Parts: sequence; structure tokens; C-alpha cells
Amino acid sequence: MEVLENRHVTGRDYILTVRVPLGTIERIKPGQFGMVQVRSSLQFDPLLRRPLGIFNVEGDRVSFLYRVYGRGTELLTKVSPGEEVEILMPLGNSIPENYDRYLFIAGGIGIGGLFLASRWFKERGKEVVFVYGERSSENLSGIEFLRKYGINSVVYTEDGSFGKKGLVTSELQSYEDFVWIACGPTPMMKAVKELAKELNVECYLSLDRRMACGVGACLGCTVKTVNGYKRCCVEGPVFKADEVIF
Ligand code: FES
Repeated sequence: MEVLENRHVTGRDYILTVRVPLGTIERIKPGQFGMVQVRSSLQFDPLLRRPLGIFNVEGDRVSFLYRVYGRGTELLTKVSPGEEVEILMPLGNSIPENYDRYLFIAGGIGIGGLFLASRWFKERGKEVVFVYGERSSENLSGIEFLRKYGINSVVYTEDGSFGKKGLVTSELQSYEDFVWIACGPTPMMKAVKELAKELNVECYLSLDRRMACGVGACLGCTVKTVNGYKRCCVEGPVFKADEVIF
């Protein structure tokens, strides 16, 4: 797919925007992801495939918000507009659509996997609140999109440099009558899961795993659940919170 933009946002975060083939946008469901293949001298090096949440869609364009963690994402930052990247999408299951009130809980780059879903449900008349937390204001990469699309949001920073001071989980008790959808670092996900259980709230977790194939063939992305091991790329990335064993 043709790269239209690959811009630095803030800190270690970038947004990759590509033009997608006809019919792709219509197939995307909230919470799905794409496997982005970064080219190298080893053309099919599986280590250079990265699962990235589909962050936004506009016209025939799809964007991915990503944070640089290793060789694959580092190489991805070098891709320029006009070049081609291979992307397999949309992949994975999606967020259930049968609720009226959605609370999205994103820790850090977890917003990359949830923003589009929040927009998607808002545009379909659902009540949506987005709770977004980061260490400090320097890392709030997704905030411009929450504003641009008018998503009702509450922002937390751990150092108090923007929004409310505290953790993203600080005031979740106020949203007992919403379904909770969370994506973020493991300690945050554990805390959300525990709180949801305590309050008897329906809760789903969008999990992030290293993936080699993205289509269920390699078993490299397994998630331990109360129903045995499941493949994050096919049975996930969205799991019921009470199903996941950390
Ligand atoms: Fe291969 Fe999930 S990434 S089975």
C-alpha cells in the first residue's frame, strides 16, 4: 500500500497513513488491527512484522499510531511518502456493538487501538467517554484526534503536567453503567480487570502481543484464558476481561 504520510507526533510516537484498496474501509470493524510488514534486505523477516491497531480512517486512507520500541518500529519510521509497505488488514475480532454506553480506557499508546472504536460508536449514536492517561503531557499523542472528532474525554497525566493528575484508573467508579473497553500496559489492564470485577461491570480488554503471522497459523501470540490458550490474532485481540489470566 502506498504511504501518504509517516510523521513524528511526539516523543517516540509516529503516525503512518496509507492509501488502501477499494473495499477495505467498509470491512473494518472497531478494535481490529493490521499487520504491517517493514521491508528490509531480509524481505520476509517475520520479526519485522508488527501488529498495529487501526487508528483512524478518512476517505480511502488508514492511519496507524505507533510507538518506537524495537527494530521493526525503528525501521518503520524511515519509510517515506510514495514508498510501499505491505499491510494485511483488517485482522482480528472486534469490540461488541450491542451496548449503549462505552467507556474507553487507554493507557499510553493503547489509544492507538481504541480511538477509532470510540469514533465509530459515537458516530452510531452511542454514548462514549474516553479516559486517556499518560506519564506526562509530552506523550499525549492521541489528544489532537480526541479533540478533532469531539470525543468526550478525560485526560490524566501521572505528573500532573496536563489534565488531571493521577492514573487513568483513578475515577473509573463513576462509570459503572458503561461497558468498559481497555487497552494499555499490563499493570493498568490488571487494575481495570480487578475494578470491573469488584463493581460487576462488563469489561473487555484489547490485548497487545508479539505476532509473526497475524492469521492464526504460528501460535506465537497465545493468551492464557480460563478456557485454555487462545490466539490473540484470531480469537482476539479483544477478550472479555474475566476470561484473561495474567
Ligand atoms: Fe501467528 Fe497469532 S500471530 S497465530
